Amino acid sequence: MLPRVVTILTLLATVARAVDPCATIAGQKWTSPQDVRTCFASFKVDPEIKANIVDVVNKTLAFHTSVNYEILAPPPFSADVHENLLADLARISQQEYPSDFDLHIDMSQTLKRLNDGHCVYINDCYDSLFLTFLPLPLVLLTDPDESQSVHIAPEAFAVASVEFADELDVWQNALPGALKGQLETAEIRYSQQYQLSGAEVLAINGQDPFVAVDANAQTAGSFQPFGTRQNGFFASYNRVDAGWSYIMGQFAQLSLPLNDSATLTVLRVNHTMPETFTLPYRSRIGTTAVPWTDSTTFRQNNCVAVNGTNGVNLNNPSNPLRKRDSMLRPVEKFRQSPPAAASFSRKQARSVMLDSTPLQDVSLPPALTPAGNVPGSSGVTEFFLLKDGRTGVLALGSFEDTGTIDDFEQTLLTGLVNLKNMGATQLIVDVSNNGGGFICVAHIVGPKPTSVPQAGLNTTARAGPLAQQIVKQILGNPSIDPGVNLLYNPLNWFFPENNTQFPADFDWLDPDVPKVINGRQDAFSLTYVPVPSFRDGPV
Ligand SMILES: *[C@@H]1O[C@H](CO)[C@@H](O)[C@H](O)[C@H]1NC(C)=O
Ligand SMILES: *[C@@H]1O[C@H](CO)[C@@H](O)[C@H](O)[C@H]1NC(C)=O
Ligand SMILES: *[C@@H]1O[C@H](CO)[C@@H](O)[C@H](O)[C@H]1NC(C)=O
Ligand SMILES: *[C@@H]1O[C@H](CO)[C@@H](O)[C@H](O)[C@H]1NC(C)=O
Ligand SMILES: *[C@@H]1O[C@H](CO)[C@@H](O)[C@H](O)[C@H]1NC(C)=O
Ligand SMILES: *[C@@H]1O[C@H](CO)[C@@H](O)[C@H](O)[C@H]1NC(C)=O
Repeated sequence: MLPRVVTILTLLATVARAVDPCATIAGQKWTSPQDVRTCFASFKVDPEIKANIVDVVNKTLAFHTSVNYEILAPPPFSADVHENLLADLARISQQEYPSDFDLHIDMSQTLKRLNDGHCVYINDCYDSLFLTFLPLPLVLLTDPDESQSVHIAPEAFAVASVEFADELDVWQNALPGALKGQLETAEIRYSQQYQLSGAEVLAINGQDPFVAVDANAQTAGSFQPFGTRQNGFFASYNRVDAGWSYIMGQFAQLSLPLNDSATLTVLRVNHTMPETFTLPYRSRIGTTAVPWTDSTTFRQNNCVAVNGTNGVNLNNPSNPLRKRDSMLRPVEKFRQSPPAAASFSRKQARSVMLDSTPLQDVSLPPALTPAGNVPGSSGVTEFFLLKDGRTGVLALGSFEDTGTIDDFEQTLLTGLVNLKNMGATQLIVDVSNNGGGFICVAHIVGPKPTSVPQAGLNTTARAGPLAQQIVKQILGNPSIDPGVNLLYNPLNWFFPENNTQFPADFDWLDPDVPKVINGRQDAFSLTYVPVPSFRDGPV
């Protein structure tokens, strides 16, 4: 009997090794979404970790306005935003999931339904560890009669052939029949007359394209307006420090490997017969993924907390984690604006979006890059004068840049003055895909009698239980915040009534100002304004 048992054990061991689902995709730059999913879905839910996730999210939510407001968002968003997060967390606590990945998808989509770019749930074990692409970004094009229809972006091949040069053949060969190899046509490759590029999209997966657009908008997150979330499906652009970058859109680029293929019915340019084809999505490893060889090392290297996960002690000058390094501080990867130098920006009030897809550096094709910027343009800030000679354009890709806030404000002033001197009397501010930054820079108010001594930055804070405790800790022991860096330090705020600083011992969250939001008891601070150092420049 003994030899037989040994044989069976050997066989089991061999099988287990052969099917390690994360070994299959180890070291691969490109793989199928199905294989990525098989690795991701191979981990069972650990009840202790699940309970901890729900508990931490639940406690953290007390800082977020969204929780109570988005149960039924105030007008004009009432029809678009209605997520009862606490009810969903209770549901998730009870629900069984086939895998940890399924739990993640539910958590992620639930939080995204808040449609609040400041309140997001990201797990860098899964979100954008791989990005999943189709080489066919879509756009809405407007006909001369002003009707709009969905098209494969005319620049699709120009973008894909540069960004996906090493994977293009897989897609070319996946196209059926006469379309095979026709993402573009070789002979006219450089004249921008591409076979599929520019084609009108009549159906996605057999349905009107807007069925897919609207389904995506339900879980796209980040923005309250439905129209803004619809736009996210389509290709776009963003001004970044190094130039212009192309944004693939949420049809052509997925942060989770949830789709294997898309079936499109298209009408090619100058063709009269619609054609239907199915093209596979392909998953590309993210730049910050730490290599692994099997399931165990996949998990160890990419899925556990690291030193920077839970924040950084800014009061320890020798702490290497003070650096904005995405390897050390994983959250940095998901910022939607380039970080200003930490030493200059720490004291500025800022609001930056986080998203489960990090900023990408896909290049905008040269033919689409705007030329002839106005002197003074710099970094994320570009100025143009339209042909009418009186319309200025300020393309502002971010509300912060790599330098100081003073440099940034000076750039804005210089460019605007130059535009005015060139004859501009009106201004278009293009904030396409601007992910946020310094709040003060976003207040382009212009001089008014009311902007002195402060420009209308009156605000209130949430006075949740943890926030109240933090204020009491600071008042009890001010030495825990030697640099006066904490948002909860009273010394960072002024009374708006007389523009004087809060006293150091002022418990500004107690008593709180109670409010009832969507039937729930909530609590806020009194109205206050930032101290000048917080809004005007480095200290
Ligand atoms: C979230 O926290 C509230 C307040 O402490 C508690 O009543 C509720 O049960 C918690 N929800 C979950 C799902 O843990
Ligand atoms: C479509 O036809 C027009 C008119 O004949 C021609 O100018 C254009 O180049 C054609 N486009 C493509 C993609 O073949
Ligand atoms: C991707 O998959 C999801 C979930 O199965 C589906 O709802 C969505 O329509 C798919 N999107 C595309 C573009 O195929
Ligand atoms: C993480 O922190 C510990 C304790 O401070 C330190 O010993 C270790 O070297 C740090 N690891 C990294 C990767 O910085
Ligand atoms: C800010 O609050 C002060 C004090 O209540 C008030 O006088 C001022 O008008 C407010 N400013 C704005 C812009 O709301
Ligand atoms: C400023 O106004 C606040 C709120 O009314 C008050 O408590 C404080 O004493 C005032 N400070 C000065 C210097 O008048």
